[in-house]
Amino acid sequence: MLALLFFSFLFLACNLGKPENSQTAMNDFLDSLMKEMTLEEKIGQLNLLPGYEGIVTGDARASEIGTRIQEGKVGAILNVRSPEKIREMQRVAVVETRLGIPLLFGLDVIHGYKTGFPIPLALAASFDMDLIRQTARIAAIEATADGLCWTFSPMLDITRDPRWGRIAESPGEDPYLASLFAEAFVQGYQGEDLRLNHTMLSCAKHFALYGASEAGLDYNTVDMSRIRMYNEFFPPFKAAIEAGAGSVMTAFNEVDGVPASGNRWLMTEVLRNQWGFGGFVVSDYTSIQEMMDHGMGDLQTVSALALNAGVDLDMVGESFLTTLAKSLKEEIVSEEHINLACRRILEAKYKLGLFEDPYRYCDTGRAQNQIFTPEHLQVARETAAETFVLLKNEDQLLPLQKKGTIALVGPLANSRQNMAGTWSVAVNHDQSVTVIEGFRQALGDRAEVLYARGSNLVDDPDLDRRTATRGITTFDSTRTAEQMRAEAIAVARRSDVIVAVMGEPAEMSGESASRTDISLPEGQQALLRDLAETGKPIVLVLFAGRPLTINWEQENIPAILNVWFGGTQAGNAIADVVFGDVNPSGKLPSTFPQNLGQVPIYYNHKNTGRPLGETPWFRKFRTNYLDVTNEPLYPFGFGLSYSKFTYGDMKLDKTELNGEEELQVSITLTNEGLYDGAEVVQLYVRDIVGSVTRPVKELKGFQKIFLKAGETRVISFTLTPEDLKFYNAQLEYDWEPGEFMIMVGGNSRDVKTAMINWQH
Ligand code: NOJ
Repeated sequence: MLALLFFSFLFLACNLGKPENSQTAMNDFLDSLMKEMTLEEKIGQLNLLPGYEGIVTGDARASEIGTRIQEGKVGAILNVRSPEKIREMQRVAVVETRLGIPLLFGLDVIHGYKTGFPIPLALAASFDMDLIRQTARIAAIEATADGLCWTFSPMLDITRDPRWGRIAESPGEDPYLASLFAEAFVQGYQGEDLRLNHTMLSCAKHFALYGASEAGLDYNTVDMSRIRMYNEFFPPFKAAIEAGAGSVMTAFNEVDGVPASGNRWLMTEVLRNQWGFGGFVVSDYTSIQEMMDHGMGDLQTVSALALNAGVDLDMVGESFLTTLAKSLKEEIVSEEHINLACRRILEAKYKLGLFEDPYRYCDTGRAQNQIFTPEHLQVARETAAETFVLLKNEDQLLPLQKKGTIALVGPLANSRQNMAGTWSVAVNHDQSVTVIEGFRQALGDRAEVLYARGSNLVDDPDLDRRTATRGITTFDSTRTAEQMRAEAIAVARRSDVIVAVMGEPAEMSGESASRTDISLPEGQQALLRDLAETGKPIVLVLFAGRPLTINWEQENIPAILNVWFGGTQAGNAIADVVFGDVNPSGKLPSTFPQNLGQVPIYYNHKNTGRPLGETPWFRKFRTNYLDVTNEPLYPFGFGLSYSKFTYGDMKLDKTELNGEEELQVSITLTNEGLYDGAEVVQLYVRDIVGSVTRPVKELKGFQKIFLKAGETRVISFTLTPEDLKFYNAQLEYDWEPGEFMIMVGGNSRDVKTAMINWQH
């Protein structure tokens, strides 16, 4: 207690003395504090432990975590929430330890807190950065009201492999979109001022290359050229750092043969020296000790490797806590490194204002009034609807009219725990809105809804258990698959239209959820085939945490709406779009392949020396498959609307440019449909000749434009040489003069093109 008073006083004194220079005030404060600290206390700060239920007994001495805190062996806690529990743990840290240093409290607040927003891949599909920023803002308001000050988000792993379950958490395949996504998330969480009690520290993760795990297998080996890292996988991390992200998490995988958690080139050379990152680095969960399994040595060796690499905080493994003192004695690590790591943790605490008021996030009033509010739920509903991607809509089957009899069929039509999606740690699944509830709410007594489940999510009860949200299975073993299908067909026959609500269970994507077959689970396919045979019009509402292979569905089902996992308000948002109260406007942030053999498939690939060119398919000795075209099923940036958007001719203000001139690109966009709606106008560039090979196209700009039915508008983009820069073979970031192809369109495939020449 005395200690706290002493440091509070010091804090105030420093601040009052030099109010205009908070960096100096912080340095003075931390210099004094660190002078007081013993080696053990410093190492204690580098330890991040799970808090789970907090100090359950209310008596710190009786609880393991309470004792650890009292002993000064903990710097931060994860996985505990509630202002009361956090206040009690914080109290032990500031009152019952020698120096009274407050704790950080972190959690995976990935896509919303109690108000669940769509999964990150879906958020990327909105192409709406203001909206993404707002979801992160709301998540921060709710999480901080529940005692937290640090989120393990945003996840920024570019991936081109839909087998990898964590694609659901990622921004998809494109570095430009992902960089804007990174910035929006960081700004939303951290706001203008980290010391406000409703802003929280963000964490850019997983640095780096986790999305390139071989075979889409989680935690697997990665091997990649540096030029690819810099041009394709690093940009969102750099953007997060530039936006001020306060922390970075390491990846589980290796990079250049050294696990990321022990990789000094990554954590110090790139992150700190090249990008100027000034925050702290946290390991991923036990990833320091896991380096033993990578074959990097014993616990002491790998812990020293991590510290020397630039990792500051050890998540869960207690590797630092148990080995660093010994390593210091044996001169495997230096005191300077321990000090540096400790200093970075303390700086984060200072910047959050925790020394000033360690309980600033423990206001129970806020917890009652600012979580799961009607306003937040409204944003969740609007956000979800903006992320849905209309993949097919033959003969304008959608939107459905609010009349007649609708058969709502499928294992996700009435499945509350599958609405929010993976990594919904704090979401209260009991309050998620199901599709059937959304439909009934939207329709009232204007139309009749008949429901049948039709199939289990998957046929194999073991797989069902492995993919059940919080382990609660909904597997129906009382009926055979045939019986379930028969019931659904009977319901379908009595209806005017079928809405089939199908797809992956929520936990079929996310961590440790890789698949070698990314189609609709077999039992659901059988159901869909039978439904199609009834001859009734069918809308497929597709839940997915990744791009799925849905060739058969594309050929045989007239309307397909991809809804990812929409969060708490998924059911209402789906009803909003299905019945036309909202016009869909999402675009794919990730290519949908025709089949798994095409993976990895992504729009911004390189040309080979034998490109297929204009040949539709197949040419011997060209880059193509024998059995399937090179085209994806749906390209990056693709998504339909109930409106028909047409693009006029593209206009460039010049075709010959010099030096630092700017290029104006404009195009006329018309909403020719009957509905008001939004279109994402996309600008791509191809650098025709480079000192290294360049992608066939790269997204360089987009605008989400809302047009009333019948409205026309000229959409303009400005390109500067900055937009043409890339990392060359020497890893220098610059542009190279020459010819460029400019492309504008509503997706990465269907574009208008023009050539320009840009010289130095
Ligand atoms: C492991 C995951 O890889 C990471 O993303 C997450 O933040 C931590 N666990 C903490 O839950």
